[in-house]
Amino acid sequence: MTSVGIDAVELWTGNLKLDLAETFAPEKGDDPEKYTKGLGLRASSFPDSYEDIVTMGANAAKRLMDRKGLEPDDIGRIDVATESSFDNSKPISTYIAGCLEQVYEGDFHHANKGERKFACIAGTQSIDDAYNWIRAGRNRGRKAIVVATDTALYERGDAGEATQGAGAVALLIDEDPDLVELTMEQGYGSADETDFLKPNQQFPSVDGKRSVQVYLARMREALEDYESVAGDVHLEDFAYAPFHTPFPGMVRKAAALAYRHVTRDTEHEEALAEEIGRQPRRESFDDDAEYEEAVREYMSALKDTDQYREWYDATVDPTLSISRDVGNWYTASVHVARIAALKYAYENDRDVTGESLLVASYGSGAQAEIHGETVQDGWHEEIAELNVDEQVAARYDLSWAEYEEVHDRHNHDMDKELEEFTTPNEEFVFDGWGRMGERK
Ligand code: CAA
Repeated sequence: MTSVGIDAVELWTGNLKLDLAETFAPEKGDDPEKYTKGLGLRASSFPDSYEDIVTMGANAAKRLMDRKGLEPDDIGRIDVATESSFDNSKPISTYIAGCLEQVYEGDFHHANKGERKFACIAGTQSIDDAYNWIRAGRNRGRKAIVVATDTALYERGDAGEATQGAGAVALLIDEDPDLVELTMEQGYGSADETDFLKPNQQFPSVDGKRSVQVYLARMREALEDYESVAGDVHLEDFAYAPFHTPFPGMVRKAAALAYRHVTRDTEHEEALAEEIGRQPRRESFDDDAEYEEAVREYMSALKDTDQYREWYDATVDPTLSISRDVGNWYTASVHVARIAALKYAYENDRDVTGESLLVASYGSGAQAEIHGETVQDGWHEEIAELNVDEQVAARYDLSWAEYEEVHDRHNHDMDKELEEFTTPNEEFVFDGWGRMGERK
């Protein structure tokens, strides 16, 4: 059976930046380390006044098509994943295809276009759709483009404000992929939850603390479900574990949960037993509260052990290096984490060809999904082509007053004249409703 997976990726950050330690923390009267250490974030990306989910997605997709030498006729499917959509009828993929048609010969009339929504997990679901379309043999030799694009903005004053971000990832899904092959097994944890929602509103209504607990609960279920089809997960099976990253501190919690789960009844638990005791077992406690307290104590001790830190530093920390500087990109976030991991391997001369990734996606509302990927021969060349550091370094650093103006503008305050802080450079720009995606 032919292998199917991600052939190439490209990333596009919003062109502005809000520095959390220098600009955000002083304005809030907070210790900067709450953000840099507690949440694990240095800065957030923001869209300039001429950017939105369409332009960022189209810019990422154009880089992808140019780099892979593709024309519209090569693409049979364009799916967009977003939770920042502004159109309840036309999918954002039609707007993005419209942008791309301005710059390529031919058009996408033959391509199936859609929009996927399930909070941040929709990017992974779109990859799944493309994978199934190719595996079913319905692609007629064509490839699929998946674009995950979001402006992850919160109401000013909301606890989530520090975790904002804006950007897009475009992924090419194809047979015999150059980057990673997707494996068949998947695990899910899914439940109807109301901790994070946006019923016809621009900014989410969030119960932040609860959202953290829901993320962890669904992730544990997904891991158990994954093991029920793929067999027990072992620490040494995976080179990296990219998680959905609303902020790196969330991933620290999820990683500890995963570690505890997969090391239970193994030599790793034995090795830790003298130092921090054995993991609490549910059956040894009379009530849930006592058990949960014992688990909390175990986890807190676990995070300080050399054994855990060594695994975390090698397998999880490398996935966070981009997100620390760009914040939450919702649907694109786990795909940014995959890029960060492979970029780390590339920069540290580690050959990960043939090694596995454990990819853990999550969307509020809520659903977690876990699957495995195998790194392919072409990964090195693919990662070498990315210009992530240049894009991140080129962002304009907003003052607080400028940030407030940009934030208002992206809350659809279109009456306000807003200057552009950066100059568009060979990119699609938002030029007013109905004239979207002109190329500058
Ligand atoms: N130095 C070092 N650390 C500090 C500190 C300091 N001076 N001050 C605080 N901290 C630590 C805290 O101890 C805490 O760490 P732990 O959680 O490990 O204990 C961390 O910094 C954050 O501090 P608070 O919990 O006090 O922060 P908060 O309550 O203001 O905000 C939040 C946290 C509620 C998660 C908020 O960021 C939020 O609402 N975010 C949006 C929702 C979200 O991202 N949820 C994640 C799961 S849902 C999801 O993943 C979907 C999605 O993309 C949104």
